Amino acid sequence: MAQRANYKPRTKRKATESVRTLISSAQIQRRIAELAKEIRRDFPNEPLHLVGVLKGSVFFLTDLAREIGGEISIDFIAVSSYGNDTHSSGEVKLTRDLDSSIEGKTVIVVEDILDTGMTLQYLLRVFDQRKPRRLRVAVLLDKPERRLAKVRADYVGFTIPNEFVVGYGLDYAERYRNLADVGVLTLGTHGKKPD
Ligand code: IMP
Ligand code: MG
Repeated sequence: MAQRANYKPRTKRKATESVRTLISSAQIQRRIAELAKEIRRDFPNEPLHLVGVLKGSVFFLTDLAREIGGEISIDFIAVSSYGNDTHSSGEVKLTRDLDSSIEGKTVIVVEDILDTGMTLQYLLRVFDQRKPRRLRVAVLLDKPERRLAKVRADYVGFTIPNEFVVGYGLDYAERYRNLADVGVLTLGTHGKKPD
């Protein structure tokens, strides 16, 4: 069974980190079912091409794809943003491109979290040039307080405060992606936030 987010790593190196549940896996699943309905309502009869941004969106994309129903295809793209583990510098680089063309397709970009918006801004520019029939964005989480780029998502799971979160695909230095819930990560015993 997947680990819950109320979680303290046992090893010494990570002993001061802790995760407090913010959104439970049951809440996540309920919301994904609602989003899936909304998406199918907007595009009742057409094949949808879901494009996940690796790696954070993997859990969200696979759950969403199964809920939407009808004709769905999936593909993945990977980007890296320069910076440290918890903050990006805003510079984005494509590290793995899509397998297939998106020309003429109804594309839904699936992202784990919309933070500064720099990643999404970059991706939307790249995808726009490839002439999809329609281009939409679904994000599980939205942190509007941190926005720098002028982008918005068409489908938002949860709007959250400016906290660093992990779980359900989201990582801190590649850890915690497998938590079933989304939780707020705290470093150290004095409630220090990652920066
Ligand atoms: P943006 O370009 O600043 O919008 O950042 C988007 C990416 O930064 C996300 O796809 C995540 O990989 C990462 N990110 C932003 N906020 C968080 C967070 O709270 N936890 C984990 N990853 C995050
Ligand atoms: Mg990501």
